[in-house]
Amino acid sequence: MAAVTAGPGQCVVWFGEPLARERKALAAAGWQLRAIPPGRGRDGIGLRAGDTVVGMLDLREADAAAAGHAAQLAGEYRHLPFLAIIPRRLAQAPALAPLLAQCRRHFTRAPDTEALIAAVTELAGPPAPQSTGGLDALVGRSPAMLATIAAIRKFAPIDLPTLITGQTGTGKEVAARALHDLSPRAGRVFAPLNCGAIPDNLVQSELFGHERGAFTGATARRTGLFEAAHGGTVFLDEIGDLPLDAQTNLLRVLQEGTIERVGSHQPVETDVRVIAATHVDLEQAIAAGRFRADLYYRLNVLRLRMPPVADRGEDIVLLAQHFLDRFRQLHATRARGFSAGARRAMAAFDWPGNVRELLNRVQRAAVVAESELISAGELELPEAGPAPGGRGLDRARIDAERDMLLGCLRDSGYNVSQAARRLGVSRMTVYRLCRKHQLPVTQLRRTGGRGH
Ligand SMILES: Nc1ncnc2c1ncn2[C@@H]1O[C@H](COP(=O)(O)OP(=O)(O)OP(=O)(O)O)[C@@H](O)[C@H]1O
Ligand SMILES: [Mg+2]
Repeated sequence: MAAVTAGPGQCVVWFGEPLARERKALAAAGWQLRAIPPGRGRDGIGLRAGDTVVGMLDLREADAAAAGHAAQLAGEYRHLPFLAIIPRRLAQAPALAPLLAQCRRHFTRAPDTEALIAAVTELAGPPAPQSTGGLDALVGRSPAMLATIAAIRKFAPIDLPTLITGQTGTGKEVAARALHDLSPRAGRVFAPLNCGAIPDNLVQSELFGHERGAFTGATARRTGLFEAAHGGTVFLDEIGDLPLDAQTNLLRVLQEGTIERVGSHQPVETDVRVIAATHVDLEQAIAAGRFRADLYYRLNVLRLRMPPVADRGEDIVLLAQHFLDRFRQLHATRARGFSAGARRAMAAFDWPGNVRELLNRVQRAAVVAESELISAGELELPEAGPAPGGRGLDRARIDAERDMLLGCLRDSGYNVSQAARRLGVSRMTVYRLCRKHQLPVTQLRRTGGRGH
């Protein structure tokens, strides 16, 4: 726990429920605490002028509705420096996007909150054992993945719109974050928005903000995603779902670098890099009149293709082991690895849901695993037939090789040089074959081959 000097008037307004140990630690660090449990109004917060006040948005226990409500409430305190604990399942909730962007902005701009950040970050427990960002989050070394990673490295420093395509669950969002993390904008805001998750009539306001009174219910001016992400990156996920009128405005952002808030014709300068992603074929959407061709050409300057998992060969087992290891860091499970049958089943499967499906299956299997090795059945995958050539055949070939080697060694009195000459191979090869078949040749020479 970082040492924080107890100063007068240091207060955390905690939207959510701090744990007992968090309350204690904050008190010990000299912070007063005003907790606003989910669903409760802000009555009685009683902030005193001159206090150092920091907001804390804690959505660990919240569902999407509660998160929206908390975010709205916390939004009234946007002028405060804000910290947030957001579980991954909520991190994409559209209502949170601008607030999160705001949180990140304040993080870097409020030096007097550094100690609290240290304290609370520590309080929040060890960071989830996921990636440190950048390319570390992308597991894989198949040729398909290496090509993708090379493209990410090339595209990251170039401040041009980038379109990421790929089937569902192939890691488009992970790639978008990697592009941001490796770009000169790293450290600034990365603001994701799922264009398909917002009602059509709210998309414009979400993206570009609105003026007070712009429409019924617009009781205050609101900052949109593009303004909040100034200096950083906006990630427009499922761009194919963006309504046509919002497409027109997005086109202007890309052409002119300005936005207009809903209810205003005043252009506002904004400096963001736009990364968009889609799992639908935008060219088809254009043909069907659902997507503007000119916007497509503006977005599709750099194109990153995420390969389907079925094309990633050896990566499948690598990813599965990675997800299992991560699971083991958080939960008790017997499982340590995968049976040969499970590996074959994973290699043979089609993976329509790609990496996300693989992750889900591994987690489910880890929960139900009966032994150290997860089986195909536990992954709920059909048993794959034996490896090409047939497992039975393979075994027979291996046995025959071992018999031949052992016979030859016997005939040459376990003298490796002699056995090598007889077989027409090098001594190294004989040693390698002995290791492969677990024949301890030096020992055999001593014992005259007893036991083999
Ligand atoms: N190469 C990878 N290595 C490790 N984890 C990965 C990799 N690719 C994806 N993941 C994980 O798989 C899940 C799905 O990834 P992500 O959300 O980026 O996919 P997506 O392409 O955006 O999917 P969708 O189209 O459904 O939105 C996430 O949990 C992500 O962390
Ligand atoms: Mg996605």
